[in-house]
Amino acid sequence: MTLSSVRLDHTSGGLSLSSGEKSLVLHPLWVRERVFGVGVFDPVSHQRLYEHADIPADLRINKIIDSGDSDIDLEFSDGCCLRLDRASTLREIGWQDNPGALPEAVPWTARTIDLHQTDWKSLDAPENMKRFLKAYFKDGFCVIENTPTERDSLKKLARRFGYLRETNFGELFNVETKPHPSDLAYTDAALTSHTDNPYRAPVPGIQYLHCLRNEVSGGLSTLVDGMAIAIALQAESPEQAAVLERVFVRFRYEGPSAILEHHGPLIERDHDGVIRQIRLSSRLDYVPAIDPETLSLFYAGRKRLHEMSNSAEFQISFPFRAGTLLMMDNYRLLHGRTPFDGKQGHRHLQGCYIDHDGPASLYRMLIRDGKTVAVKRED
Ligand SMILES: [Fe+2]
Repeated sequence: MTLSSVRLDHTSGGLSLSSGEKSLVLHPLWVRERVFGVGVFDPVSHQRLYEHADIPADLRINKIIDSGDSDIDLEFSDGCCLRLDRASTLREIGWQDNPGALPEAVPWTARTIDLHQTDWKSLDAPENMKRFLKAYFKDGFCVIENTPTERDSLKKLARRFGYLRETNFGELFNVETKPHPSDLAYTDAALTSHTDNPYRAPVPGIQYLHCLRNEVSGGLSTLVDGMAIAIALQAESPEQAAVLERVFVRFRYEGPSAILEHHGPLIERDHDGVIRQIRLSSRLDYVPAIDPETLSLFYAGRKRLHEMSNSAEFQISFPFRAGTLLMMDNYRLLHGRTPFDGKQGHRHLQGCYIDHDGPASLYRMLIRDGKTVAVKRED
């Protein structure tokens, strides 16, 4: 999209932009914080070279010196003549596509999702890595096959995408049947759909589950799009959905080496109003003692979320084979597993967490530089 006019807005002292049906007035301080030039912006660190507070609060734009194809030269009331980049301004106000923006999340159900696997070695090619990350941002998860199956190789696999988030369970945790289990995950019982570790601050962003060995026929991995069930609840009962967004729940973990607590709503939106996080962990949540009317809506909404997250309409399942690696957004996706018979043999998964930043940065770097940059590698 191109600008059809750039004029001074005499009321605000800012810039008035228009293009077709669209128009927008930019505040003079907003413009000033986006201009570049010697002594104003460092192109290496991408940082401004002054403090906001140094700029007069009553700043105005006095004159448009030149409105060129790529830049707009401006004279400000404090005497500074500086340059505004047209393309980056249009991207920031949403009038032009931003190629570095992360692909949009698209809600899915069991009927609409296309479950596909990526070969680990194929990710060496930057185009394949870009395609893989696009699918991850769209669906909230990806399945990788043919990864190495040596114990602890997950550290190296996950570090391809970001920095490991160590917890009181260590850098990696082992999911296998144990003689004296401290958690249902270490038995052969089914696990209903849940998000991991809502009691941590911050909640771990991305979870990996890596299968080293699987000799049992059950134990399928299950996934549900939390965004899709939250949207479905919103359509079914806006009152219940509103309460689940409004009421902060306390999540608590108490174990031999840590006592952890964190608060948050069951449904949370981001700065754009998009549903971005679900907290569903049915054994660790404690809602505050608020009025019974609100709590009735809360309990009914939570029950519906639980029902939907374990229904054939929203849940998919797939087997873990040795070398399967699942990468999922722990804010958006719920996961679980079907039961299996531990007497059939050994089933051993390893898991770990990384922050959301890792894949997001990797994707932006691929768009900017066209090549894969290693986040961090073990030597
Ligand atoms: Fe889990």
